[in-house]
Amino acid sequence: MKNKTVQPSDIKIIDTCEHKCQGMWFEKMLSEIPVKLEKVERKVLNREILRLAIIAELDAISLYEQLAATTENENIKKVLLDVAKEEKTHVGEFQTLLLKEDMEQVEELEKGKEEVEEILE
Ligand SMILES: [Fe+2]
Repeated sequence: MKNKTVQPSDIKIIDTCEHKCQGMWFEKMLSEIPVKLEKVERKVLNREILRLAIIAELDAISLYEQLAATTENENIKKVLLDVAKEEKTHVGEFQTLLLKEDMEQVEELEKGKEEVEEILE
């Protein structure tokens, strides 16, 4: 599916969430939910919820930025980019909560940061 141009027929209304541009998504942009929440162990349920919320926000950012890049209407572009920026705040909110639930993630984030800094030295 690399470099496939999105066609109008690819657009499908599949949900109505306040973060999802009036329920319209490009079907092929949506991340698939990797877990069935009803099967998740109780003790890790909140982590999984927060990871899914982050995935949804990242999808929203990608969608709005791609739509903004597509339109020639400056007002629409401006608002899409503003909303995309708000979605980045939402990522931060969910990440903050996730890092309270998953100490291993806190440590691994730091390791990842250090590894990149070493590579880029
Ligand atoms: Fe959001």
